[in-house]
Amino acid sequence: MVSTSTTIMLIGLLISVLVSLSSAGDAFVYYDFEVSYITASLLGVPEQVIAINGKFPGPPINVTTNNNVVVNVHNKLDEELLMTWAGVFQRRTHWQDGVLGTNCPIPPKWNWTYQFQVKDQIGSFFYFPSLNFQRASGGYGGIIINNRPVIPIPFATPEDDIILMIGDWYSKSHSDLRKTLNGGKSLGMPDGVLINGKGPYKYNNSVPDGIDYETIDVHPGKTYRLRVHNVGVSTSLNFRIQSHNLLLAEVEGSYTVQQNYTSLDIHAGQSYSFLLTTDQNASSDYYIVASARMVNQTTWQKVTGVAILRYSNSKGKAHGPLPDPPQDENDKTFSMNQARSIRWNVSASGARPNPQGSFRYGDINVTDVFLIQNKPPVKIGGKKRSALNGVSFVNPTTPIRLADKHHLKGIYKMDFPHKPLTGAPRMETSIINGTYRGFLEIILQNNATKVHTYHLDGYNFFVVGMDYGEWSNNSRGTYNKWDGIARTTAQVYPGAWTAILVSLDNVGVWNLRTTNLDSWYLGQETYIRVVNPETAGNPQLALKTELPAPDNVLFCGALKKLQNQLEGNMVTVPLILAEVELMGIAELEYELEGGVTN
Ligand SMILES: *[C@@H]1O[C@H](CO)[C@@H](O)[C@H](O)[C@H]1NC(C)=O
Ligand SMILES: *[C@@H]1O[C@H](CO)[C@@H](O)[C@H](O)[C@H]1NC(C)=O
Ligand SMILES: *[C@@H]1O[C@H](CO)[C@@H](O)[C@H](O)[C@H]1NC(C)=O
Ligand SMILES: *[C@@H]1O[C@H](CO)[C@@H](O)[C@H](O)[C@H]1NC(C)=O
Ligand SMILES: *[C@@H]1O[C@H](CO)[C@@H](O)[C@H](O)[C@H]1NC(C)=O
Ligand SMILES: *[C@@H]1O[C@H](CO)[C@@H](O)[C@H](O)[C@H]1NC(C)=O
Ligand SMILES: *[C@@H]1O[C@H](CO)[C@@H](O)[C@H](O)[C@H]1NC(C)=O
Ligand SMILES: *[C@@H]1O[C@H](CO)[C@@H](O)[C@H](O)[C@H]1NC(C)=O
Ligand SMILES: *[C@@H]1O[C@H](CO)[C@@H](O)[C@H](O)[C@H]1NC(C)=O
Ligand SMILES: *[C@@H]1O[C@H](CO)[C@@H](O)[C@H](O)[C@H]1NC(C)=O
Ligand SMILES: *[C@@H]1O[C@H](CO)[C@@H](O)[C@H](O)[C@H]1NC(C)=O
Repeated sequence: MVSTSTTIMLIGLLISVLVSLSSAGDAFVYYDFEVSYITASLLGVPEQVIAINGKFPGPPINVTTNNNVVVNVHNKLDEELLMTWAGVFQRRTHWQDGVLGTNCPIPPKWNWTYQFQVKDQIGSFFYFPSLNFQRASGGYGGIIINNRPVIPIPFATPEDDIILMIGDWYSKSHSDLRKTLNGGKSLGMPDGVLINGKGPYKYNNSVPDGIDYETIDVHPGKTYRLRVHNVGVSTSLNFRIQSHNLLLAEVEGSYTVQQNYTSLDIHAGQSYSFLLTTDQNASSDYYIVASARMVNQTTWQKVTGVAILRYSNSKGKAHGPLPDPPQDENDKTFSMNQARSIRWNVSASGARPNPQGSFRYGDINVTDVFLIQNKPPVKIGGKKRSALNGVSFVNPTTPIRLADKHHLKGIYKMDFPHKPLTGAPRMETSIINGTYRGFLEIILQNNATKVHTYHLDGYNFFVVGMDYGEWSNNSRGTYNKWDGIARTTAQVYPGAWTAILVSLDNVGVWNLRTTNLDSWYLGQETYIRVVNPETAGNPQLALKTELPAPDNVLFCGALKKLQNQLEGNMVTVPLILAEVELMGIAELEYELEGGVTN
């Protein structure tokens, strides 16, 4: 229980800090998201889709680094909702991360306002609804974090920004897909691939008539930035554009060594920026293709997204066969070698004026190691579940840090195993005890038969190695200690491992999950809890590394009664806090970081 005196003390503290502030606020950018169902015929039959402000995909969040982003999310669904901002760090404010370990869900008919500052990041990300398999029904949209004018980018300013959200799609609703999984069955083959919420162009007779497809209009002789996100359920997709090179420039907030690809494998949850030069003769329109990868191309033919690239001087429609995917049926290393070829441009500047390369991750000593293995689903207590290291995650009824603040015990355990457990898997709220400012090595070992992709909230991590077989101590000898890409979502090939390094400099509790929606739903996730031990009993110091719970924080689970009290006091409580809020958390943060010394 938070006592009144604590609350008053906290408010007093905030005001005293704010009084010492100079001006210098960072700009606020406001969005209003009404999340509701619409009916749309994406693949030829009407179905239920989750839209934002009536649109699918939702509107892009297009902001500049250091902006304070305020998103008022109105839940017009018939079930609980949380919006998560995948890849956006939420520095010091896991309270805005939008997953069940950090937030109580927004009940139907309610709205809740997220507020966070985008900081230390420039690049391409996306948002999506994190609960109840909702992403399979849509509700997603792109996030662009632009550079401030003083920060140069390592290429000429493109003619325009084009967002492409690609992903596999099931015609069944997310609630039906949930029922399938709850019934112990697997989802089977998707019904198609959508590009920006639209079905395939009729490139041949295998595609039914009357499907609305996406067209990207361009002018000849220009360079465009394509921001491509795989927002699907789980299918790895090969992305390519007929007769065009894709010059890879950015991966989830890091600039890459710029290289041309004729096609690139994009796994569930991953984001890439390509520079597309419109250097062809426009004798016709060109196909944009996203096709299922590492599956039998014949049986999975319908799982192919096709959009159109149309030059303003185009002489006709696209025709003929689609450009070929990589012909690597007998070469399982092709895709992995391509992934290894993606490297960080260590001399390009990042979000802050210091060059990215000044952070030499290869010289930092690892403080803790986790070898995390997934396995194909198994039955636990009669139910089909998925586990990591033998633990199938059960979401806490009360968000983890909220439980900490209210001194609740028994909500979670910090005993996530360092190695795969032998013996029968169990269902638990078991999380990782992260050491603040520690340097964590995580080896992800994939024992399943398809690609799994892992995402970590709150951080980007360095992808330092991947290979087939079982990881061993000797595998460290193969690590890239110099220019491994820093990203938020990494793939692990079946029967292979991927090693990542992460610097735990962001206090909070951060979700580590399989982005494959079915495996995630069945329990393949955990959290890394990072607290700053120096701040115990020193709230002023604590503010530097972890912002207080926002005044609109929702309560649930063991703290449900606080929500009820709040509603009883609707008029008074928010008014007191509103005064503090007026000054702006961002200004507070700015001062604490830059100016105020104590
Ligand atoms: C994002 O905003 C910038 C200007 O701040 C604009 O140039 C760009 O076209 C916008 N991108 C999208 C996809 O809306
Ligand atoms: C709900 O939306 C209204 C405006 O439509 C806003 O004034 C209010 O602060 C929002 N509530 C929350 C909890 O964000
Ligand atoms: C890396 O970034 C620098 C600085 O912007 C740029 O000059 C250089 O061309 C980039 N290198 C590659 C290989 O992309
Ligand atoms: C349609 O195109 C696909 C991919 O290019 C090809 O495999 C298939 O045989 C074609 N089908 C028909 C009916 O032409
Ligand atoms: C990439 O391909 C384009 C042609 O599409 C070419 O002009 C450019 O030089 C290539 N860039 C690199 C870095 O290979
Ligand atoms: C345009 O390019 C294609 C292939 O790149 C070529 O086959 C065609 O003849 C060219 N058309 C014109 C009008 O130059
Ligand atoms: C792909 O599936 C087709 C049809 O089921 C089958 O004939 C073919 O042998 C399969 N190809 C491979 C490489 O397994
Ligand atoms: C890493 O550890 C070694 C000894 O194990 C030590 O000599 C070295 O100074 C450490 N490096 C850093 C950067 O702390
Ligand atoms: C978590 O790790 C810290 C050291 O970083 C240690 O002091 C603490 O006892 C650990 N807590 C648990 C529950 O293991
Ligand atoms: C791997 O290294 C760790 C310490 O770094 C050691 O405890 C373990 O025994 C080693 N394992 C093998 C198989 O050598
Ligand atoms: C999964 O693990 C088992 C036991 O260690 C091993 O025999 C099998 O080859 C592994 N499969 C994959 C795909 O890694």
